[in-house]
Amino acid sequence: MVDPVDALTAHVQQAMGAALGAEYATGDPVIRPANKKQTDADLQVNAAMALAKKVGQKPRDVAQSIVDHLDAPELIESVEIAGPGFLNVTLRSQWIAQAAASMLGEAKLGTQLPAQETIVIDYSSPNAAKEMHVAHLRTTVVGDSLARTLEFLGHKVIRQNHLGDWGTAFGMLVEHLLEVGEGSDEAKLLTTDPNAFYRAARAKFDSDEEFATRARARVATLQGGDPESLRLWGEILDLTKGYLRRVYDELDITLTDADIAGESSYNDELDEVCKTLEDKGIAVMSDGALCIFLDGYTGRDDKPVPLIIRKSDGGYGYPTTDLATIRRRSLKFKADRALYVVGAPQNLHFRMVWEAAAKAGWVQGTTPIHVQIGNVVGTDGKILKTRSGDLVSLQSLVDAALERAASVVAESRPDLDEQTRATIAHQVGVAAIKYADLSVSHDSGYTFDLDRMVAFQGNTGPYLQYATARIRSILGRADAVEFNGPIVLTEAAERALALRLLEFGAVVNQVGQTLEPHRLATYLFELATTFTAFYEACPVLKAEDAAVRDSRLALCKVTLDTLVQGLELLGIQAPEQM
Ligand code: ARG
Repeated sequence: MVDPVDALTAHVQQAMGAALGAEYATGDPVIRPANKKQTDADLQVNAAMALAKKVGQKPRDVAQSIVDHLDAPELIESVEIAGPGFLNVTLRSQWIAQAAASMLGEAKLGTQLPAQETIVIDYSSPNAAKEMHVAHLRTTVVGDSLARTLEFLGHKVIRQNHLGDWGTAFGMLVEHLLEVGEGSDEAKLLTTDPNAFYRAARAKFDSDEEFATRARARVATLQGGDPESLRLWGEILDLTKGYLRRVYDELDITLTDADIAGESSYNDELDEVCKTLEDKGIAVMSDGALCIFLDGYTGRDDKPVPLIIRKSDGGYGYPTTDLATIRRRSLKFKADRALYVVGAPQNLHFRMVWEAAAKAGWVQGTTPIHVQIGNVVGTDGKILKTRSGDLVSLQSLVDAALERAASVVAESRPDLDEQTRATIAHQVGVAAIKYADLSVSHDSGYTFDLDRMVAFQGNTGPYLQYATARIRSILGRADAVEFNGPIVLTEAAERALALRLLEFGAVVNQVGQTLEPHRLATYLFELATTFTAFYEACPVLKAEDAAVRDSRLALCKVTLDTLVQGLELLGIQAPEQM
């Protein structure tokens, strides 16, 4: 066991049982980091205060009897009772050293794997034949980090890219494809510049009455299942997949074609979804539309807000498909948790859909969770929009970051050849974007400020990458092949670094529970800063003797592995050199 909190928990529980009675052996000892302003201890145990009431003793007496029964000489250096009755615990440096050394060469780096769950993650989920915009950047980056982290924790992760691939716009898109010709350069725009294709189709639709009539007729044949219409529609999707692959490759996102489960994949289920809801009396006809009215959802005028699941023209909409998504994810995929990584404004939609689905019995053993994504704003504090009022495209942001990264790397490493520099610049640019996104909580907004994001200093992705490159260079100069310690902690900075390393597993577990990758980002930044303090205080290659040097090299190695692994969970690559 590597996490000192876990280790101490087990011992304190044993002491609580022995001191107060067996029923107390499973209580939460409430262990927190010690208050560094008041003590040099490492951890603080707060259980005595709550227990005192239950057992009718004074908190300090309870604290004393826990201490009297605490038997863990290998873990605990000293305990002191403080304040109203909390325990300040100083850990044995030797225990910390051994725990840190046990992380060497260990793939999970001390992470205790929780019971395996099946977790469905709906993320990225852009719309076909349209360019991804800035909001999709965040759902893509956050969702991918969650997918990577939950997989690392041993869960079975099912990625679902809920592509918007159905709806009335496809009539116009199919007609436009026919006019420009399949295989034409205009058609290929769907892969390179989908907005251009969409805009051209839209312009014709708005200006050419005859085209518009054909487009509407095409919607009907398409939805009626006409094979030729479906084939042309499929062509549009194939080209769209090319676009998505390009974006995902460029950003190192783990989504593949196989993860696409677009809106259209639910088409065959929507009749049945509506029929069942109507049969069960959950949905009712209102003004020609099939609607669900749920308690507690009222609009401004106190009128109930309906969830419309079949419009008066017989068409299905966004809510209908999402009733089908939760049904499939719960009943077919048997998800323990179903994550929807989607913009915060859609929260009402999801709450209503899930409540309706639960009434129908379609949420069984599944916790649906909306991982709410906040806005990205510009340095002027406003939502990022182009001059024409559209949301800024994802590609333009990525291009800007890559360009900035290229000039930063060109400046810092003029000695490297162009190819190497280009590789590093790409890794740095992607890191800048992803880290800016992941280092703030996913539901709050963040400012897209390239200067700050790409900087090698401060709480940035490139700073963390730089920290790994620096450690690699130390290890590279050590002319050792294996870094296997043993670790001996004598200096305060060594001990602080080792303790920090031991937190990695707990932090990753926490991200798996709270679905908040920014906790990992914060941890990695603290680890990098703790490393810097260590490196400033403790010479490594020039250490006073061989044993100290080996120990410090081993600390460097675990730090490197932890940073690299942590960055990987954020979807960020660590360059070999920077
Ligand atoms: N395509 C939608 C958008 O661009 C997001 C879909 C999210 N997933 C879902 N199951 N509704 O806003």
